[in-house]
Amino acid sequence: MATTREAWGSRIGLILAAAGNAIGIGNLLRFPAQAAQNGGGAFIIPYLVSLLLFGLPLMWVAWAVGRYGGRFGHSSLPGMFDAIWKKPASKYLGVLGLAIPVVFCLYYTYIESWCLAYAYFSLTAGYTNAPGYTVDLSVFLREYLGDATSSSYFSGVMPALGFLIIVVLLNVWILSQGIMKGIERLAKIAIPLLLIFCVALAVRVLTLGKMEGTALDGLAYLWTPDFSALTNPQVWIAAAGQIFFTLGVGFGALECFASYVRSKQDIALTSLTTASTNEFVEIIFGSMIAIPAAAIFFGPGQIEAIAGSGTFSIGMVSMPEILRSTPGLPFFGTIWFLLLFFAAFTSSVAIAQPVMAFLQDEAKLSRGVSATILGLVWILGSLPVIFFYKYGVLDEFDFWAGTIGLVALAIVEVVLFSWVLGTSKGWEELHDGALIRVPRLFMFILKYITPLGLIAIFLAWALQANLSPTPKINWNVVDRHLYPGKFVTGGSSSVQAIEDEIRRAVQASDRDLKAWAGVRLGHDGTITVTNYAADPSLERALTAEKVQRWLELMGLRYEEKNRQGNVEKKDVAITIAIEALDRSPYIWLARIIIIGFFAAFTAMIAVVWKKRKNDPEEFA
Ligand code: PHE
Repeated sequence: MATTREAWGSRIGLILAAAGNAIGIGNLLRFPAQAAQNGGGAFIIPYLVSLLLFGLPLMWVAWAVGRYGGRFGHSSLPGMFDAIWKKPASKYLGVLGLAIPVVFCLYYTYIESWCLAYAYFSLTAGYTNAPGYTVDLSVFLREYLGDATSSSYFSGVMPALGFLIIVVLLNVWILSQGIMKGIERLAKIAIPLLLIFCVALAVRVLTLGKMEGTALDGLAYLWTPDFSALTNPQVWIAAAGQIFFTLGVGFGALECFASYVRSKQDIALTSLTTASTNEFVEIIFGSMIAIPAAAIFFGPGQIEAIAGSGTFSIGMVSMPEILRSTPGLPFFGTIWFLLLFFAAFTSSVAIAQPVMAFLQDEAKLSRGVSATILGLVWILGSLPVIFFYKYGVLDEFDFWAGTIGLVALAIVEVVLFSWVLGTSKGWEELHDGALIRVPRLFMFILKYITPLGLIAIFLAWALQANLSPTPKINWNVVDRHLYPGKFVTGGSSSVQAIEDEIRRAVQASDRDLKAWAGVRLGHDGTITVTNYAADPSLERALTAEKVQRWLELMGLRYEEKNRQGNVEKKDVAITIAIEALDRSPYIWLARIIIIGFFAAFTAMIAVVWKKRKNDPEEFA
């Protein structure tokens, strides 16, 4: 049963699809957040060096390995590695190229679904303040994700689940259409749209004028190089990590795309074009939207605090805050989130395609059956990410798939390419039909620098990892939406001691512990706990006095703007709900799921190859 392999319809289609693969949440949210967390201008030099030493070389390797594998009828890594290294073990190394993308998909599409949800909320003005009703955007996001102890805006994660299901169905629908009619066609629509959205938002931000700061303050923050940070290994690791993530190397997805390129067609220039397009969007639009907006609205001094507090807080908290305070939220807000959604959409179909390809090419299932199986696994696998988000399942998946796993995969692949296939043969493959010649210097880089650098990064990551899950503490003001002002904390490091006691209580009792405190916040800064109830196991570690002390150390106060626009402290009586979460069981569940995917794919590879050996006809 020889099936004709799928192929790309046109060169422009391939380039758009490959650009769609690369351009994602990484470009528009993760890049500004990483840059801000690593000192703005200090980040850029290691970032560009990583692009040259890891990014571009690994892109070329991925494209060459992919097309090489495609010649043997393979579009996923087990078959590709098998074609390169004719040893029984090699196909099993390829399991990395199936388990990592699946795990990655499970959380990446969840994030994608937040973007779609927020596009909807923007369109319907779902997070604007109304008389008597305020929306605290950071609580709004936490409640949407089920990561808060209050329910002012959402009473559960059902909306989040609903949006995820929509997004997975959209992905599976595109995948079920195949490469040309599905992925390529999506890219042809989404990429131009995405660029238009980028321009619209950049123009909007750059023409805002001075408020707390100017757009130029934001650009200066990112683009003033700071040479002193070059000696900090953390900055280098973060920069390399961002390059892997944004180019999508080390996932098996580029290889899969490359396998549909016909022999004698260029891959060297296509790969470079993809990387350049991705870098263009990342460097230009990744730095012209969120960071300048933060500088304008919150002032240049605040950029680090805002962007540095996390990838999602800049995208889902600061940007909506800015967007709702400029006219046209339904328009610009919707555009911002649709932009993120489309960027993510073209990436998630790419990352799922290796698995589709494995089911079709190797397990010989039809496209429809493959898509159905994938869709079911996708939705089921997302459930723990959604329901146990507050316990850190998403972060755990991100750590193993998006951090450790991709570096491991990149190491295996570059060694197979440079040392097993051999750089000279690899070079030939890369240049078959090529429209450019890659400088020979890269042969040397690929043989020595990239593998050694990757191993160094892998060790650095592995050694700094803390694998025993610690309990997490959440607390919120119940009925947050009724207060028009802000609850502010100005933290103190001695809070740590009390929080450690809470964590120890959780560890001793092996379950989640809860407490409620009625609290009076005085305009003079006094804090009084007026009544208190707690889980008996928590009561000893966290007495009413300690809660009061804890809130005092945190410097909790309530501020409201008066008519003149001045900030006033006010007296309020609030209820605070505290939750100390025993993360262990959920973190282990996440790990078991990951191991489960590895085991399942390993078993499938074993079965498929055994069948192939017994019945070579069918697999011709
Ligand atoms: N590069 C994508 C982003 O920037 C993510 C991605 C990773 C896509 C791996 C495909 C493969 O968001």
